[in-house]
Amino acid sequence: MDVIAVFRTFFEEQEHAWVRSASLVPQDTSVLFTTAGMQQFKPYYSGEPSPYGNRVVSVQKCFRADDLAEVGDSNHLTFFEMLGNFSFQYPDGENSYFKEQAIRMGYEFVAERLGLAIEYVTIFEGDEHTPRDTESERIWNELAAEKDITLPVYGENRDENFWGPTGSEGPCGPTSEIYVDGVEIWNLVFNQYYQHQDGTLEHQSNQGVDTGGGYERILAVVEQTESVFQTSVFADVMAYIQDMFPDLALEHQRIIADHLRSALFLSADGVTPSNKEQGYVLRRLIRKVLSLAGMKEESLPGLSKIGEKFKEEYVERYPELEDGLVNYTTHLESEFETFSQALRQGLKQAHKMLKGREDNVLTGEEAFKLSASHGLSPELMRLNGIEFDEEAFEAERERHREVSRAGAEHKFGGHGLALDTGELKAEDADEVKVVTRLHSATHLLNQALRDVLGEDVVQKGSDINVKRTRFDFSYPRKLTEEEKQQIESRVNQFIEEAHDLEVTEMPLAEARQSGAIYLEHESYPDPVKIHQFGTASKEFCGGPHVENTADIGTFQITKEEAVAQNVRRIRGVVR
Ligand code: SER
Repeated sequence: MDVIAVFRTFFEEQEHAWVRSASLVPQDTSVLFTTAGMQQFKPYYSGEPSPYGNRVVSVQKCFRADDLAEVGDSNHLTFFEMLGNFSFQYPDGENSYFKEQAIRMGYEFVAERLGLAIEYVTIFEGDEHTPRDTESERIWNELAAEKDITLPVYGENRDENFWGPTGSEGPCGPTSEIYVDGVEIWNLVFNQYYQHQDGTLEHQSNQGVDTGGGYERILAVVEQTESVFQTSVFADVMAYIQDMFPDLALEHQRIIADHLRSALFLSADGVTPSNKEQGYVLRRLIRKVLSLAGMKEESLPGLSKIGEKFKEEYVERYPELEDGLVNYTTHLESEFETFSQALRQGLKQAHKMLKGREDNVLTGEEAFKLSASHGLSPELMRLNGIEFDEEAFEAERERHREVSRAGAEHKFGGHGLALDTGELKAEDADEVKVVTRLHSATHLLNQALRDVLGEDVVQKGSDINVKRTRFDFSYPRKLTEEEKQQIESRVNQFIEEAHDLEVTEMPLAEARQSGAIYLEHESYPDPVKIHQFGTASKEFCGGPHVENTADIGTFQITKEEAVAQNVRRIRGVVR
């Protein structure tokens, strides 16, 4: 069955306008990647008229960096396609619909067009902030009675059945999910709310529907395969990889397939490997594959060939892959070069650590350090004859995972952290982008406080997450409205002046004399990095920062309060 054709035809019959997939690199710069079909339609959920009408249907290219660590099992992917139908501006918008029709169409598509037996459905059970979605519950029960089928409807909590927003603010709402063979195959999101930057929910007068189902997962159910990697999308490539790397574990073969498909699509959307943002993610994907392939130059043609096979599979629907393949191959080759260099450094470091040691075996901690900082993965250490305490290495890796997990649970209720410098915390690559802007804004704020309140102001602490920056500093009294206004304006002036970032590294003693801001009692590495934005700010720091202050957006102080005697706290956001 051609699932995509069936899907498109069904929703076009229901008067939905077909909209092409947007790029994997979204226009909305508060997120790094397109992670859902609704993203390109975000404005139409909050009042802006949709140029396509109020019913649309799409197959959207998506990339979810937070699933990176999970890839290798039977159904996690970094890149995937999402089928979805959408409705905007209900109830006043012409032709718009809400729960009743969305549920009925979802049912008809899954049960009658795809011919799948729905096992059960879920609805949001409600909590202290948001009521139970009794409307969806009623609609499902009525539908089951009408069709004379048994259809259990289970209530689920916020973690499971409340969606969005993507990025730092936007539409969101309760969801209802359809399960087949234990797999969540369709997700209906009812956007009744708008979540603001500060986390507050506003009831929307115009409501929307956002539905989605991962194509590969649906295909696995339709084609009755045990994993997405056995579906028709992957079968050919997996056979090729099994041939090319017969000794690799299945998990690693799957990682190669997933990562190279993502690398091809990202390359086709203009992403280039680098040390920041989307480029950093692409670099990680490629380096992981190169590492699994044993860092052998001879494997490059085969890895290119895998990209070519994916291109053939998809090019009819995504013509950008034609040129994308050229970029993909170039990126594989250039990453092979730069990664080789980094590894040589790592190996040098390893030999230095081992020098004069009798057992010639790295400790778990040393090996972990090499793998984290030089990309010298366990596979590559083994390959290069570096012995290390494998058990201790695993223990060390687990310890690090737990540290970030513990921090993550505390902050975000259970998701893994993509960035945690102590000062900056971000849950996924999308959030990294926002906290990076907030971080640079915080440097400007530090300088602005000195400019407005005097040079005696000293930083006492700083904590940044996707919602806000929180900055503590020494000052004996409450700030006046006028002072707050001046500080905010000063930061925005620095932003408008569009200062480029310049990073220099120098011996600590010299750095202390350089006029850069630093904390008296903090221990810094030697040499230390200084991040400078032209004449606006100069500070000891490890990053990450925006390239130019203009990338920050607009800075706003949201709160000023006391935290201790002679210590004030400012909270601020960027927009
Ligand atoms: N946006 C929702 C999701 O990603 C439904 O499309 O699951």
